[in-house]
Amino acid sequence: MLPHLDLRRLVLIRRSAIVSVFLIIAGCAAVSQQKAMPAQPDNLEFHNLRVLSPNITHDELIATMRGISRSLGTRCEHCHVQTATEPRPEFDFPNDAKPEKRTARTMLLMTRAINTEYISKVNAHGEAAGEAVTCFTCHRGHTVPEVMPAGPAPQRPGAAPAAPNAAPPATPPVSR
Ligand code: HEC
Ligand code: HEC
Repeated sequence: MLPHLDLRRLVLIRRSAIVSVFLIIAGCAAVSQQKAMPAQPDNLEFHNLRVLSPNITHDELIATMRGISRSLGTRCEHCHVQTATEPRPEFDFPNDAKPEKRTARTMLLMTRAINTEYISKVNAHGEAAGEAVTCFTCHRGHTVPEVMPAGPAPQRPGAAPAAPNAAPPATPPVSR
């Protein structure tokens, strides 16, 4: 399922499950783009990365940020301090003043922990399950995930008994 990745690339991806999730989502654009240039992690470009790998490339960082923004249905200014709107938007990206950015860091760590400590141990859907949870899994295009609407519980103990001639479930639950 992974495109033709050289070893170095694979190591980079392994380093950060979060980054690779977004790389896969973003498709192979970043991968093929990077192949054209000598693979050189530009770790001097970003100055305030506390969760993402310091070896992240420019393309990986931007792909990750676009993935986050799309997952939350928001734009860069939701988390980043905007310093200008005219003639074009400008940001102070390393600035941590916005609480949303600090929350997003916690969320990056949480998502990583969910994948590495839990999802990766449930291998029912193959290797991809190890990186199955992304921001989108919960957020679905909203900054605050939707909650389940209130409604009648599907079944209450002591409720009307099942019809005596009700057919048994076609497939009994399998436990392995
Ligand atoms: C939901 C919040 C959120 C959104 C939306 C978001 N970012 Fe970020 N961004 C972060 C967080 C958190 C970090 C720091 C990650 C870390 O500490 O490893 C960061 C870091 C960065 C950095 C590195 C700054 C540095 O030098 O340390 C850049 C550049 C950046 N984001 C660009 C963008 C762009 C461009 C967009 C819009 C496409 C965007 N971000 C949208 C949360 C967000
Ligand atoms: C397991 C579910 C889950 C996942 C995965 C998840 N989030 Fe969240 N996130 C939540 C919940 C729930 C809240 C609301 C918390 C609250 O009540 O304030 C939230 C809140 C936030 C907020 C604050 C919203 C606001 O604007 O006030 C940000 C920012 C955020 N998440 C970013 C992210 C990012 C970025 C990712 C992926 C790296 C992510 N989340 C992954 C469940 C999740």
